[in-house]
Amino acid sequence: MPTDPKSDLAPKSGLEPNQLHPLPANTTLEQAIEEDDDHPVKRAAGAPNPPTLGQVWQKRISRRDALRGFGKTGLALSLSTSAFALAACDAAQASSFDFIEIAHGVDETHHVAPDHKADILIRWGDPLFEDAPEFDPKNQTAAAQLKQFGYNNDYVGFTPLPFERPNSDRALLCVNHEYTTDRLMHPGLATAKDPRAAYTKEIAEISMAAHGGSIVEITRTSGAWKAVPNSPYNRRISTLATQMTIDGPASGHPRLQTNVDPSGTIVIGTLNNCAGGMTPWGTYLMAEENFHMYFSGNVDGHTEERNYKRLGIPRGIYPWGAFDKRFHIEQEPNEANRFGWIVEVDPYDPTSTPVKHTALGRFKHEGCETSLTEDGRVVVYSGDDQRFEYLYKFISTKKFNPDDRAANMQLLSDGTLYTARFAEDGTGEWIPLVYGTGELTEKNGFSSQADVMIECRYAADLVNATPLDRPEDVQPNPHTGKVYVSLTNNKNRTQDQQDGPNPRAANLWGQIVELTYANKDAANTAFTWDLIVTCGDPTDDAVQADWHPDTSPNGWFACPDNLAVDPKGRLWVATDQGHAWAKKSGTADGIWALETEGELRGLARMFFRVPIGAEMCGPCFSPSGEALFVAVQHPGSDGTGDWKPFARASTYDDPATRWPDFEPKTPPRPSLVVISRDGGGQVG
Ligand code: FEO
Ligand code: CA
Ligand code: CA
Ligand code: CA
Repeated sequence: MPTDPKSDLAPKSGLEPNQLHPLPANTTLEQAIEEDDDHPVKRAAGAPNPPTLGQVWQKRISRRDALRGFGKTGLALSLSTSAFALAACDAAQASSFDFIEIAHGVDETHHVAPDHKADILIRWGDPLFEDAPEFDPKNQTAAAQLKQFGYNNDYVGFTPLPFERPNSDRALLCVNHEYTTDRLMHPGLATAKDPRAAYTKEIAEISMAAHGGSIVEITRTSGAWKAVPNSPYNRRISTLATQMTIDGPASGHPRLQTNVDPSGTIVIGTLNNCAGGMTPWGTYLMAEENFHMYFSGNVDGHTEERNYKRLGIPRGIYPWGAFDKRFHIEQEPNEANRFGWIVEVDPYDPTSTPVKHTALGRFKHEGCETSLTEDGRVVVYSGDDQRFEYLYKFISTKKFNPDDRAANMQLLSDGTLYTARFAEDGTGEWIPLVYGTGELTEKNGFSSQADVMIECRYAADLVNATPLDRPEDVQPNPHTGKVYVSLTNNKNRTQDQQDGPNPRAANLWGQIVELTYANKDAANTAFTWDLIVTCGDPTDDAVQADWHPDTSPNGWFACPDNLAVDPKGRLWVATDQGHAWAKKSGTADGIWALETEGELRGLARMFFRVPIGAEMCGPCFSPSGEALFVAVQHPGSDGTGDWKPFARASTYDDPATRWPDFEPKTPPRPSLVVISRDGGGQVG
């Protein structure tokens, strides 16, 4: 790994440096985030050991291959012998995708399948309001950033304008800005003699302003979507300046009260908004993921020691605690309990106050995609993205009413949160996390449902949820009622921890799990599960990958992350391999189309590729399927030392790519891209 001069960003301040948990030497921000999954998180005392499920994977592979007419040997042979594959495979089913796939590779720009075009829609720093200054990276201020598109775009949601007209030429995009890559944002920061001194309060506030979300109006002219810079719907949501309320069981609880907010019901800002979801009533859900990175201080002997240690708080990667005491856990002991939730925003009312819903639990929420039960209650799925963490499902108490939006806005305030337990035989169960039941009582330190929601991980430990290989996006398919779960990777799983949904030790490549309900009804607490693909290179026996045998050398991928189902019910997968992309696949991240039904199940093909150092986020289809919005996050950042033409750490002053502007003085900019088909028609 290259040496990253930005390795230590803790500022000079009134605080002792050891209170700030600066990044270790030679570690980039992205590596630190990834390594955080290594934090020795303590399982709850008294929690039963997870069951050893044995080598279920082998059994399941055998069963699937039998169904396909392949033994494991036949699968391996078929990859090098297409004639064998054709002979052995009943090739009657035609693919529902009709694009020509692109090749694995890495270079300074993006690539899309032939007959499609990919246009830049909006970039970090683009003005969103009439009085917003133009992007000027050498003269950034927090005030300017609050009026411009934020950094590191991740989730993208589409909602038509007006809501009732899905094929309107106007729409709102709801976009998360997960975090900032400061060394690529600010001239001189990475190469400063004393990076501690260089990380000023202004830089911290610019970062806080660049986190959060953007709501951006887009309009379609002659089939092409463009951002509307001065729309009255445009809005910035930030860590710095957006007031939110807190509702649900933990609202107002003493553990959420602070010096600034003795009521425990009002909080400024949201943090590390990774993926998200749109609700059936057109609101935007933002998941708060790695919120532990922003808090500093000493946790030993802290009133929230058990709770904070289970979440890796404080991590202090962003040394904000030096400038704003709410990010210092000794000065505001409860502030960190006000993050780690799902936030609901009404994009149709730019003056509305976002709400943090504590009924959906507090953990490192990857995303929050929704569906409805057969009787009309709202279901929200969320993975807790850390190694050996759990999968969750919330079901509202009340039903969705398409004619009463005001009532729908209360649906996420009350319901039941479940966590998933997988069994060896391909079945599984959702276990409710309800105070007063089973282990969730005073005996284990819970005095109310608020406590269960605040310490969700601990509660899930106690009910023996199944530890998974980093659950990322969880995507229901409204066409089939099935639910897809990205388990992105887990290098720390050991051989004796292999089980059904996590079939490999030292798993660098991830897998996609499919959940099925009886009668397609997500109200069921029982489900069955199967692996659609076990990712990685299918030609390397040591990887133990499992793909449809017709998958091409460009069709396989590693580290599934964000997922989307298009209007035809087809699954699309975005990848995030992190800094070790060269070891995992050797290709840049991108988007792959993945067959999920019939004889072609498990066949993937590559559709889009990001520039060097980026990860792929979004993706999101317009209701007609004629536009696909994708988010290119942190271009020029990850693993640039392993890209031979560059082979060094990437900084603002010396970036691996200047995508998407390619102007000599302009740094790389996280941006949204809109993909459409040449001459119109369905993408893919
Ligand atoms: Fe922000 Fe789990 O990715
Ligand atoms: Ca993710
Ligand atoms: Ca998704
Ligand atoms: Ca990601």
